[in-house]
Amino acid sequence: MNIEKIRSDFPVLQKQVNGKPFAYLDSACTSLKPKPVLDAMNSYYSDYTGCAGRSVHKFAKRTEEEFAKARAKAAKFVNAKKPNEIIWTKSATEAINLVAHSLKFEKGDRVVTTNLEHSSGLLPWHAVAAEKGISLDFVLCNKEGEFNPEEFKEKIGRKTRLVSIIHASNVTATVSPLKEITKIAHDAGALVLADSAQSVPHFPVDVKQLGIDFLAFSGHKMIGPTGIGCLYGKEDLLEKLNPMLLGGETITDADLNSHVLAEVPERLEAGIQNYAGAIGLGAAIDYLSGIGMKKIEAYEKELGKILVEGLLNNPKIDLIGPKDSKKRGSLAAFNAKGMDPHDVALMLNDKNFFVRSGMHCAYPIHKFLGLKKGSVRASLYFYNSKEEVKLFIENLSTIIKNFS
Ligand SMILES: Cc1ncc(COP(=O)(O)O)c(C=O)c1O
Repeated sequence: MNIEKIRSDFPVLQKQVNGKPFAYLDSACTSLKPKPVLDAMNSYYSDYTGCAGRSVHKFAKRTEEEFAKARAKAAKFVNAKKPNEIIWTKSATEAINLVAHSLKFEKGDRVVTTNLEHSSGLLPWHAVAAEKGISLDFVLCNKEGEFNPEEFKEKIGRKTRLVSIIHASNVTATVSPLKEITKIAHDAGALVLADSAQSVPHFPVDVKQLGIDFLAFSGHKMIGPTGIGCLYGKEDLLEKLNPMLLGGETITDADLNSHVLAEVPERLEAGIQNYAGAIGLGAAIDYLSGIGMKKIEAYEKELGKILVEGLLNNPKIDLIGPKDSKKRGSLAAFNAKGMDPHDVALMLNDKNFFVRSGMHCAYPIHKFLGLKKGSVRASLYFYNSKEEVKLFIENLSTIIKNFS
């Protein structure tokens, strides 16, 4: 991979901060955007602004075409059978909420989820439990963030309607054995929803190969814009969802007291859509596919190895998740002994290394690990260079040395 060329495509990477270079190590929070994505969004606003599926004029038709192309790209990216299996949402969070609030649950149904979930994969189930009288069962990961599929066998029972599980963790950097868990759930008659916000951006994800029923992902974590996400769903299952929102485009006819729902995907996409966002995400997918997700995965493994080995080399650092970099993605959450994670992040910020600190929207796993103040997290993407990661380790070591 030609990192110099890739980096030259990202306008923000051409800049300095306070007159000095910076290292952006917070891509698990949100990723940087390359010029083709910015251009695609800008073009919608400056060349052909319109509404898809409504007016008949040329701008509206162009919007409709570009919007449809973006949906087809998103479908192909996760190997869905057809574009209609992609529903636009504003985020992975909204995609998960869409399933939670639109699936027809009966009182007494159960949902199995885990202690590794991001708030977006956990809180919707709290709401559904309160509103619809369903119960929640939890499978716990081990201290490194790994699941034993056998424990899903034990937790999934006759009443389990759905298993909702994080695909790649934003804290432990582990990848859940989704294919195995999906098979176990299906054998027991339950559906599976994966939170793939941290997997789809980093390695090839194939919904057919996984056999998964629903999968949520997000534009802004995969060099696309904020405000756009996707719910993949098997078409027959999407057709059975009760729309969470109703409005423009969700129907084909209406009277004062009744209406006729449109087909999917429109029936699940109420009101004006984020055309610029979807078109921008289409451009992001073109960019990622142009490099190749396998190449991105392999390069991130190399980066991840430098990061993890560098952190493990320092006896003052406690790394969260597996010590073997082969078992993890290219992010690392950690703590420096005796130091507050926010202080570490602020000291790194002073040196222009941008990381995240705190709970990373994942309270239960931090509590499970006894980390009341959370952790510091450095999260990498394919536009990071090996030099940046090495410099990060050096600077972090100096900060810790100077503190103690
Ligand atoms: C694992 C995981 N799930 C879900 C989300 C939420 O994604 P979005 O920002 O698209 O709502 C995040 C974002 O941090 C995440 O890391």
